[in-house]
Amino acid sequence: MTLQMPDTQQALLKILSDGAFHSGESLGECLGISRAAVWKQLRQLDSYGLEVERHKGRGYRLAGGLSLLDDEVILRHISAPARASINRFSLFAQMDSTNQYLLEHLDHGHVCLCEQQTAGRGRRGRQWISPYGSNVYLSIAWGFSQGIAALEGLSLAVGVAVVDALNSLGCHDVSLKWPNDVLVNKQKLAGVLLELAGDASGDCFVVVGVGLNVNMPLLAGRAIDQPWTALQHLPGAEVNRNLVAARLLQALLLLLKNYEGQGFKHYRDRWEQLNAHKGQQVELLSPGKSVVGNMLGVSETGALRLEVEGREQVFLGGEISVRPR
Ligand code: BTN
Repeated sequence: MTLQMPDTQQALLKILSDGAFHSGESLGECLGISRAAVWKQLRQLDSYGLEVERHKGRGYRLAGGLSLLDDEVILRHISAPARASINRFSLFAQMDSTNQYLLEHLDHGHVCLCEQQTAGRGRRGRQWISPYGSNVYLSIAWGFSQGIAALEGLSLAVGVAVVDALNSLGCHDVSLKWPNDVLVNKQKLAGVLLELAGDASGDCFVVVGVGLNVNMPLLAGRAIDQPWTALQHLPGAEVNRNLVAARLLQALLLLLKNYEGQGFKHYRDRWEQLNAHKGQQVELLSPGKSVVGNMLGVSETGALRLEVEGREQVFLGGEISVRPR
């Protein structure tokens, strides 16, 4: 489900995007509506998770301002070879989930971004907190012809591509928690969700979804159920969302273009370098099951290698957490 923001609200956001105070009267004049109608429109902005400050005598402001996504700017910052693999580019104000949209509009090279997700999906049925105009939520649909087997390890390789993009944006000391949580200082900065559609043994599509915290409003951040961070908290990191989105797309498109030929073996060493838990005692949790072991690394297909009671075991699914010694 997609929803275009009503014109008046878009105009209101444009005025407030400078981060300065605007009186109710001047907003009403600019928008050609009464002060009561301005008040109503401002209240509706709350539903986008935006925090409009109200100060007696000074008016209203969006603290910190807002810079909105712009498809032309994003595309301009993507290199020609990566841009050539984009067949369709969809940018929305608000929608349930960019992954869901692409699953319903499957098209090789279809890229989708939005300002806000009302039902952003995380791994293992979690919600991905996606307030308006603050972070990057993007998905790419990609068709593969050699069946699911050729995609082994892809979700880990996507994590590597996200880290490469982050490094190019001045964000360093990034690590990966198996399979693909992107961490800085043990806090989650970005998440990756791959969803499959089509024939497991032949033509199939993968929707690669990435959510990256850039300027997470504190109020929205309180709803996140795990330690998190955002680029705004990392000194030296770029926070221009158009540029951040462009770098992510660039890295992901080039990865997808080459993956069937290269496979995970091309990314395995790099993944191991980024492994947040190498040599640590971890607990692997999957529905109804828990295994504790020493994190050895990943196999050539991206499976988790754990040493359990002196013997190596390999696991395909689940989520790890660190065990205090
Ligand atoms: C995780 O739980 O770590 C995965 C989070 C993935 C979130 C992104 S945001 C863009 C895309 N659309 C979704 O609904 N989910 C992914």
